[in-house]
Amino acid sequence: MALVKYGGVVLFLHFLCSAATVSAKVPAIIVFGDSTVDAGNNNNIPTILRSNFEPYGRDFYGKKPTGRFSNGRITSDFISEAFKIKPSIPAYLDPAYKISDFATGVTFASAGTGYDNATSDVLSVIPLWKEVEYYKDYQKKLRSYLGPRSANRVLTEALYMISIGTNDFLENYYTVPGRRSQFTVRQYQDFLVGIAGNFVRELYSLGARKISLGGLPPMGCLPLERTTNLMEQNQCVDSYNKVALEFNAKLKGLVKRLSSELHGINLVFSNPYYIMMFILRRPGSYGFESASVACCATGLFEMGYSCRKDNPFTCQDANKYVFWDAFHPTEKTGRIVADYVMRTVLARYL
Ligand SMILES: *[C@@H]1O[C@H](CO)[C@@H](O)[C@H](O)[C@H]1NC(C)=O
Repeated sequence: MALVKYGGVVLFLHFLCSAATVSAKVPAIIVFGDSTVDAGNNNNIPTILRSNFEPYGRDFYGKKPTGRFSNGRITSDFISEAFKIKPSIPAYLDPAYKISDFATGVTFASAGTGYDNATSDVLSVIPLWKEVEYYKDYQKKLRSYLGPRSANRVLTEALYMISIGTNDFLENYYTVPGRRSQFTVRQYQDFLVGIAGNFVRELYSLGARKISLGGLPPMGCLPLERTTNLMEQNQCVDSYNKVALEFNAKLKGLVKRLSSELHGINLVFSNPYYIMMFILRRPGSYGFESASVACCATGLFEMGYSCRKDNPFTCQDANKYVFWDAFHPTEKTGRIVADYVMRTVLARYL
């Protein structure tokens, strides 16, 4: 028998094949969301919400300010690395990349967007429905690049990550009039959960199966929110954290419902809340020196164009800060959150 005669060879081939199957289990990571996972899509649309200039990206490969709202990489990049796919996920609208790059991972995310169309209108960024349109366009390109069979396999086996929702509350509901006159905050949460459900159903109908729906961080502890919390000596805004916890509980319920509704879906809820809270309560245990103000500029309110290179207050070592700008974590925080989410929920897809 050939198997016996060439046992060594068979064994060797078997090793290669299993290595290939393991690494092909999640062949691509496909990302939807806001600035937490945008790698530069906003550079290519007319909005003021950008970060493709220094000091953004000063700890990224080649010190390049890509449009990530970070000093370096972001959570989704570390997750791609943890799946041994590639060290960073490129933005779909970045002209430096093509379909061969996007075949193993792509982000359609847009800083400043939300579940609600009214949220993306605030700063003229890409609404979530439009991210889906880009995804459909991506599917077409992937099918012509890989051929329909291989492309469909990638689309089915890929991990879909959704990270969105903070802006619906902080940039929209609590900041601009409109939604607040229509909805109580609980009703607004339910309105957003309804959109989230339809969004997951749409991804499913387009072929997605492995989906991670992200929860909200303790958004009342973002430096910008603390800065404006004058009545409470710049403490975290407890009411915003409570809204995040309530919203997360509703998303978790949604994940449970959709898991029984949609046959063959492998949907999880990825919750950054508690790990972020743990970091904020014990920053020193991770080597952080500041958890309340950000690295960039005064650290109190600057982000985007107000976080500029020539600001003399910008910190030297972003690794000592939980937050990079007044609204976004540093690369180091992003890595800790990614490690946590990998260990607690995403490991099942490995
Ligand atoms: C958002 O806008 C798109 C495009 O106009 C529309 O198709 C969609 O129904 C809107 N979503 C909601 C929840 O209103």
